[in-house]
Amino acid sequence: MASIVIVGAQWGDEGKGKIVDLLTQYADVVVRFQGGNNAGHTIVLKGEKFVFHLIPSGILYENKKCIIGSGVVVDPAVLIEEITELKKRGYLKDDSQLMVSEEAHLILPYHRRIDIARDQLFKIGTTGRGIGPAYEDKVARYGIRMVDLMDEGVFRQKLKANLLQKNLYLTEVLKEKGFEFEAILEEYLQYKKEIGKHVKDTSRILYEEIRKGRHILFEGAQGALLDLDHGTYPYVTASNTVSGNACAGSGIGPTMIDSVVGVAKAYTTRVGEGPFPTELKDRIGERIRERGGEYGATTGRPRRCGWFDAVVVNHAIRINGIQEMAITKLDVLSEFDKVKICVGYRINGEILRHVPSNLEILERSEPVYEELDGWKEEVKRSNKISELPLRAQHYLKRIEELIQLKITMVSVGSERNETIEIKNPFQKIG
Ligand code: IMP
Repeated sequence: MASIVIVGAQWGDEGKGKIVDLLTQYADVVVRFQGGNNAGHTIVLKGEKFVFHLIPSGILYENKKCIIGSGVVVDPAVLIEEITELKKRGYLKDDSQLMVSEEAHLILPYHRRIDIARDQLFKIGTTGRGIGPAYEDKVARYGIRMVDLMDEGVFRQKLKANLLQKNLYLTEVLKEKGFEFEAILEEYLQYKKEIGKHVKDTSRILYEEIRKGRHILFEGAQGALLDLDHGTYPYVTASNTVSGNACAGSGIGPTMIDSVVGVAKAYTTRVGEGPFPTELKDRIGERIRERGGEYGATTGRPRRCGWFDAVVVNHAIRINGIQEMAITKLDVLSEFDKVKICVGYRINGEILRHVPSNLEILERSEPVYEELDGWKEEVKRSNKISELPLRAQHYLKRIEELIQLKITMVSVGSERNETIEIKNPFQKIG
């Protein structure tokens, strides 16, 4: 048995999709366990670009199973779009490759409208995909699950009850338009026809796979600092992005997880509102954005860019139990005379070495930097760490010292083969 959880160690967009895609070669099953189509995992394969919002990136391997777990909120229109696109491009030939938990909650059109309208009033900078409102309904216990959609009678009844209150809230509180019951019913019953074959009791299936000794890869979405409990609340997403949620969000227990791998970019980015101590609002930040193509895979919004923040990554290591780290997009930094790493936050004459829960303090913190020489040399063709420019090696070494973990993978370009793989994390588990 070997089960590995891959999580983002910053504010999302760390390049997890690529690392998951790479590690899927050693896995049998890939599982998404939280979030929804707020995520956007980009993979470049033989020059062809794929962006997944819901389907685990492992789908590009023919013989691997992919599961969308119960912790994910599913917009069926997006799921169908991804399935259709994959099939058009010659993938997902076998429908049984993709399974969706019958316990996963649905995103409905009113969730999206509420999300967008409310973000005007209380600005989080959400992706507007209805993620927060769908999770709210889940917790409030009137959410509608996949299993409900599969039973027309139950779906009708739940939709009717929900629409009563949603329309009231939309029209009276948010001053927005409401929805017609029949229109949603018809739309979703059509979706049922298309996705019904994928809807399964995935907790049971996953348990059986684990008992058979299969290798499982859990694919986290977003990042540690967007975690609902341990991130920069309230500027977070509406699910737990930490590795612990791989269990609850897929229906297995913690004794079935063997290892946690973190993914961090060689610098930092964030989309949406909220504090970001190492943000660069200058030419360097712009250059990082341009070189790194730092525009949201889901919304196209420009990402805020800044230097690598070891305080943030150490926070992620603690709340996730990360045992090894993948560093992505090292190539993006191959342009600067100097590169910086944040090692603490200066506030009121003191230096903090952790992320404070009080956002006021975080907002007012000044990053304390260590400056290193940049490398200004191409790194894309390096296959080993020793082939990297010496200064790039020093940069990685310093990060390792600061986070007290080994860097076991380094991504130096967007293609699958532009990765330095120092160790296959499945190998040591066997
Ligand atoms: P929501 O998840 O759409 O509710 O958005 C809440 C916050 O999380 C916003 O700041 C989003 O920009 C951010 N967010 C959500 N998903 C992602 C992601 O996949 N990458 C980066 N940021 C994200």
